Amino acid sequence: PSAHITIEPAFTVGPVRRGTFGSFVEQWGRAVYSGIYEPGHPTATEEGFRGDVLELVRELGISTVRYPGGNFVSGYRWEDGVGPVSERPVRQDLAWHSLETNAFGLNEFMAWARKAEIEPMMAVNLGTRGLQESLDILEYANGTEATALADLRRSHGVEDPYGITFWCLGNEMDGLWQIGHKTAREYGRLASETARAMRRAQADLTLVACGSSSSNMPTFGVWEREVLEEAYDEIDLISAHAYYREENDLGSFLASALDLDYFVESVVATADAVGAARKSRKRINLSFDEWNVWYHEEEDPSVVTGGAWPHAPRMEEDVYTVADAVVVGGLLIALLRNTDRVHSASLAQLVNTIAPIMTEPDGPAWRQTIFHPFALTSAHARGEVLRVAITSDTYDTARYGRADLVDAVATHDATTGDVVLFVINRSLSDATTVTLDARAFGGASVVEAVTYASADHHWRATAEDPTSVLPAPNASAVVEDGRLRVELPAVSWSMVRLT
Ligand code: AHR
Repeated sequence: PSAHITIEPAFTVGPVRRGTFGSFVEQWGRAVYSGIYEPGHPTATEEGFRGDVLELVRELGISTVRYPGGNFVSGYRWEDGVGPVSERPVRQDLAWHSLETNAFGLNEFMAWARKAEIEPMMAVNLGTRGLQESLDILEYANGTEATALADLRRSHGVEDPYGITFWCLGNEMDGLWQIGHKTAREYGRLASETARAMRRAQADLTLVACGSSSSNMPTFGVWEREVLEEAYDEIDLISAHAYYREENDLGSFLASALDLDYFVESVVATADAVGAARKSRKRINLSFDEWNVWYHEEEDPSVVTGGAWPHAPRMEEDVYTVADAVVVGGLLIALLRNTDRVHSASLAQLVNTIAPIMTEPDGPAWRQTIFHPFALTSAHARGEVLRVAITSDTYDTARYGRADLVDAVATHDATTGDVVLFVINRSLSDATTVTLDARAFGGASVVEAVTYASADHHWRATAEDPTSVLPAPNASAVVEDGRLRVELPAVSWSMVRLT
């Protein structure tokens, strides 16, 4: 099989946004406790943050981190997590049927964020709480004057306001599983009033309203329309969440980016229709603030519905395959090609729960397979995202119909002249030859070509063996007369850097 790609420097989609490379830390399972936070761990910082995890987070190239949820935030009282740790209450976390000790809260997160060199994306609780509590956390975090909550922060040892500007107005309010679930009209009104009041406190906020929890939600489309009819003028971004899994159909799974493209197109069309009806020049863009491969979602729900209330249990610790990594790389390709309307994205999540980074308590931290395409894309996508014209052999999928065997996106940094191709081969059995016409860029040459693949598509990285399968140089990549030619193995993700 083969595919041919043409790119031109003038044909751009929009800028590569650092915000595309966000992630997510929810107070859930072992994401925080024995994930990013483990006082007493041999690598722990003086604040109790795992140093080995901090190093991996920086290597992953994360830009923003959404916190503290997720479903967790819809029952959360942010005040529980500030002040002297010994006085913080232990609570039942109804989202995950766990005990929350509150040893880790807002100030710990912000100290960690500084060390991890990431920008916070804070979520407020619009499930069990509302407008007033959203204003309260904003004042506590960002208050500059001698007011009660800003002074409370100071009394907790944080003199300077954090200046957090990126806020999510609740989480997945379209889902019946969400504590405090609402109809689109109810939520739209609440989001609109909360946003309006928060902007009175601070004008320069970027506010994200909840969109759909997946493109399969029965309310998909109608939810976005009704929420935006209520909140269009007050918010900046609408969220989208999507998780994919193999379900004994690797061919369809590898084409998951088709669903992501459909999701983005549908939300953009809906948002623009609401804008047009309002005669508004403002555009609402997307925050794809939960996306990943996730397997265990529908398995053994007993841990979240009954029995004991464990603290920081092992939950949803998916161990990812090479095929999962190809899908994650493919989803990043789709997020980048939609950079004109997807202004922010968060790989869900960061550590232990459905995550690229795993840890053992008092033990090692390691990279899952999905770590690699994310880290390499984050490190090398720069400048402008290029429109990519692909002519590819195709195959049939049960879930999405006909799909290209090859999917790709390219970026171009005009300051350095570097062009980077990110590309996947979805063939289950065959290597595919990809040619790229880069003559419009002058005399291109290969700087680096790496491929992530394994003859065993279901190889997994574990604590015992995290490194047998790593991205490896692809020696087949050659440029002749401005044309790149590269062989991509079956079920693979690759990056080719040209200059
Ligand atoms: O990311 C895991 C969970 O998935 C989040 O808590 C929730 O928002 C979504 O359903």
